[in-house]
Amino acid sequence: MVVKKICGIGAGYVGGPTCSVIALKCPDIQVTVVDVNHEKIAQWNSEKLPIYEPGLDEVVEKCRGRNLFFSTDMRLAIQEADLIFISVNTPTKTFGNGQGRAADLKYVENTARIIAEVATEDKIVVEKSTVPVRAAESILHILRANHKPGVSFQILSNPEFLAEGTAIENLVNPDRVLIGGHDSPEGRAAIEQLAQVYEHWISREKIFTTNTWSSELSKLAANAFLAQRISSINSLSAVCEVTGADVSEVASAIGLDSRIGSKFLQASVGFGGSCFQKDLLNLVYICECLNLPQVAAYWQQVIDMNEYQKSRFSTKVIVSLFNTVTDKHIAILGFAFKKNTGDTRDSPAIYVAKSLLDEGAVLHIYDPKVQEALIMDNLMACSDSHVKNRIHVYQDAYSAVENTHALVLCTEWDEFIELDYEKIYSQMTKPAYIFDGRKILDHTRLQNIGFIVQTIGKRLNRIPVSRTWGSSTQL
Ligand code: NAD
Ligand code: UDX
Repeated sequence: MVVKKICGIGAGYVGGPTCSVIALKCPDIQVTVVDVNHEKIAQWNSEKLPIYEPGLDEVVEKCRGRNLFFSTDMRLAIQEADLIFISVNTPTKTFGNGQGRAADLKYVENTARIIAEVATEDKIVVEKSTVPVRAAESILHILRANHKPGVSFQILSNPEFLAEGTAIENLVNPDRVLIGGHDSPEGRAAIEQLAQVYEHWISREKIFTTNTWSSELSKLAANAFLAQRISSINSLSAVCEVTGADVSEVASAIGLDSRIGSKFLQASVGFGGSCFQKDLLNLVYICECLNLPQVAAYWQQVIDMNEYQKSRFSTKVIVSLFNTVTDKHIAILGFAFKKNTGDTRDSPAIYVAKSLLDEGAVLHIYDPKVQEALIMDNLMACSDSHVKNRIHVYQDAYSAVENTHALVLCTEWDEFIELDYEKIYSQMTKPAYIFDGRKILDHTRLQNIGFIVQTIGKRLNRIPVSRTWGSSTQL
């Protein structure tokens, strides 16, 4: 069988762009993306898409109404499809067994139940969501226990490796496509059918097939390795700040070793996003359940180091401002978890903003792509209602910094590099501070303008280096 109709369940950051690129590259396949969220589907059908992703608007504009459809009629789309992608969210559980660590699979399970209930013909069901290893087994149990007579299912694992902000680029030209399936004639046939979809634009050598469990675990492993690199370089950034080494120089020096490589060694205020922390927590939980406490502790340390980094940066801001920020006006530039996205899930900016609010600061926040309502939702969700009048959201960076004591840069948007810092200096209360949480600004130039500058992984002030090993008086 050749796949002619695809249903993508879940129209979020993964489901939307992934299905759009499949529609772009496979004009002979009809792709229907469905979601329980009617408002989101309406946005996908409008001029203003629900997510910001460079290049996405153009892809959707080209395919929507041709072979790409966004719908709330999940049953019809499932009924008609040969192949179904499950791209629903798998957040960290907030209650019960595994609370705060295990992945909550209720949305995946709901989806499996609807598929079983609706399908009257054989289907290939593809896990695209990130799930714990052996989740496919649970999905299969649900499908087999509820299916209509004569209908059979093949479950494949096809994790998504796109990064937000570069999703279209990653989907069009991926490093690899991973497909895991059952080692049986039916399983191999299903793998082949999905591989043929990707072969519309991806060469066969890049399509890597494994057993289902390897594929599921590889997704958690990839995110764990990537996050581990960031925590590793961030841990060294703390050493740099005390010793006078520069973490960018250290990263370049070690990155030249081809065994280490140069990517993902950018020290920062800490990693954010909806995946790294969630997937690490899930991995830690799985290891604990498998009675592998040493392995669990190993990966837990990657998360702990990230918490330490965020807290170190926030403390640096507070201590530098004479240990009191009460009623001080502080500009936060960047609220998204990285540049080129409007996504704020687990953004380090939330942590920094919350720490400053807890100390009584008045925040002036600006992000090029994050709307005021989302900023307020994030901060109000973890604060008392009275902090609301200490949060001001601006539409541009210059308005945000006016009359502030300090500028705290949390997201590495390109436009922050290009700002007129002389103008900014003239608008700020003196002494004017800049805390560069992404290490993207020209610090020497800023110091020459008159700013007091602090950053990650590099000592910029004139305090002499402490020679007493073990002393922790310096930030
Ligand atoms: P998201 O929250 O942006 O989107 C998920 C969508 O699924 C939501 O719109 C939600 O309404 C919908 N949904 C939930 N239950 C549903 C149901 N029963 N029927 C129909 N729709 C339903 O999440 P996301 O960021 O797209 O992530 C989806 C999955 O992909 C997660 O498992 C995540 O770990 C994984 N992933 C995410 C990224 C990323 O960069 N965001 C990258 C790779 C993998
Ligand atoms: C990540 C993985 O990269 C992707 O493969 C997976 O599919 C989903 O999770 P994403 O979270 O969208 O993608 O963005 P990513 O570029 O990985 O950045 C995650 C966080 O790490 C961001 O906060 C980013 O600023 C930070 N980061 C990244 C660093 O601090 N330093 C780096 O060197 C790289």
